[in-house]
Amino acid sequence: MIEDRLRWNRKYSEGRESILHPSLLRFYKLARRGKALDIACGTGTTSIFLSRKGFEVVAFDVSDVAIRKARTKAKKEGVKVKFKRIEAEKFSFGVCEYDLILNFYFLDRGLFPKIKRALKKGGVLIFETYNEDHLGVNPEFKREYLLSRGELLREFIGMEVLYYSEVSNITTFVAKKP
Ligand SMILES: C[S@@+](CC[C@H](N)C(=O)[O-])C[C@H]1O[C@@H](n2cnc3c(N)ncnc32)[C@H](O)[C@@H]1O
Repeated sequence: MIEDRLRWNRKYSEGRESILHPSLLRFYKLARRGKALDIACGTGTTSIFLSRKGFEVVAFDVSDVAIRKARTKAKKEGVKVKFKRIEAEKFSFGVCEYDLILNFYFLDRGLFPKIKRALKKGGVLIFETYNEDHLGVNPEFKREYLLSRGELLREFIGMEVLYYSEVSNITTFVAKKP
C-alpha cells in the first residue's frame, strides 16, 4: 500500500485534481440529507460539494498530498469535511452509519461487504468506475482494478437498483439499501 501512496502522491504533486462527476450531480439528491462517506476522495471535490449541499461528510484517501489539498480547499471555502489520510482496508466503516456512500474511480472489492453494512436502511450508494472495456482505451491499466460486466449488480444483490449503466468503459451503479 505504500506504493499506492507514493504513486498517487506523485500524481497529486504534479497537479492532478479531482473533478465533479456528472453522475454525482445527477444522483446525490436520491439520498437523505444526512451523513455521507466519500471513499478514496482524492482532492475532495465531491466531499466539498456535498458538504455545501448540507451533508455531514467523512472522506478518506491514501494520499497525504491529496488530503492536504482537500483540507486546504475546504478551509478556503469555509466548508467542514472530516478528511482522513488512511488506506481503504484500514478505514473503519461502521454499521448503519451513512445515508450516502460515494465510490468514484476506485476499486477495492474487499470493501463491498463493508459498504453494504455501513449504509443505513434507505441509504444510497453511488458507485462509478472503469470496467474491463477500459483496456481498449488504456491497455496498461491493471485488470484487477476494472469491473467485469454486471459485477456490481451481482455483488450488491439485494439492494434496490435505482440506476445502472455500462456505457463504453464506465460502469455507473446507484442503489438503495432496503
Ligand atoms: C482515480 S482517483 C479517484 C479520486 C476521486 N474519487 C475522484 O473520483 O476524483 C483514485 C484515488 O484512490 C486513492 N487510493 C488509491 N489506493 C488507495 C487505497 N489503498 N486506499 C485509499 N485510497 C486509495 C488515490 O490516492 C486516488 O485519490
